[in-house]
Amino acid sequence: MSGAQCLILCKSVHHGNTARVARAMADALGEAAVMAAPEDVSPTSLGDYGLLGLGSGVFYGRMHPVLEEWVCGLPEVPERTMPAFVFSTSGLPFLARLWHWPLKRVLARKGVAVVGEFACRGFDTWGPLWFAGGLNRKHPDARDLARAREFAGRLSRAVYSCSPSMRAAP
Ligand SMILES: Cc1cc2nc3c(=O)[nH]c(=O)nc-3n(C[C@H](O)[C@H](O)[C@H](O)COP(=O)(O)O)c2cc1C
Repeated sequence: MSGAQCLILCKSVHHGNTARVARAMADALGEAAVMAAPEDVSPTSLGDYGLLGLGSGVFYGRMHPVLEEWVCGLPEVPERTMPAFVFSTSGLPFLARLWHWPLKRVLARKGVAVVGEFACRGFDTWGPLWFAGGLNRKHPDARDLARAREFAGRLSRAVYSCSPSMRAAP
């Protein structure tokens, strides 16, 4: 593993919506990206990644609990330099800042700087929505995935053009 690589951890359980976004981001980064499920990567033996991405759908107002659990498992490192981004798909992505906030709070406690956030609509058939054919049908769509690719490319260029000390900035 190299410090130039980006680890994208994704938990996608409802319709695979966030997995499609994660795949688009990984495609944009090419060989620089490693995509995995949080349960397949130990937070205690993480290695030397230059950028960390954490993504899932939103469930009852927060991102999937395995992401928070994973971040809680990160060892305490006094001067952590790994920046991170958070991404989600949800029924109501215009509230993404609210949905992302609990995970960002745990990341901050572990000294991980969140340098970018991405959100888009995801097909949602939760509860009564199922009877109406669901919310956000056909999302993420091609436009959402193009935005995801563009976001990942722009963020990685910005992070890797920064000095290590800038990368650690909150
Ligand atoms: C049980 C459940 C709870 C959900 N809660 C929310 C929510 O609080 N806010 C929201 O905007 N979307 C909510 N959604 C919609 C999902 O976040 C959305 O469908 C997401 O794209 C699922 O991602 P996935 O297919 O990658 O798992 C919920 C969906 C389910 C099934």
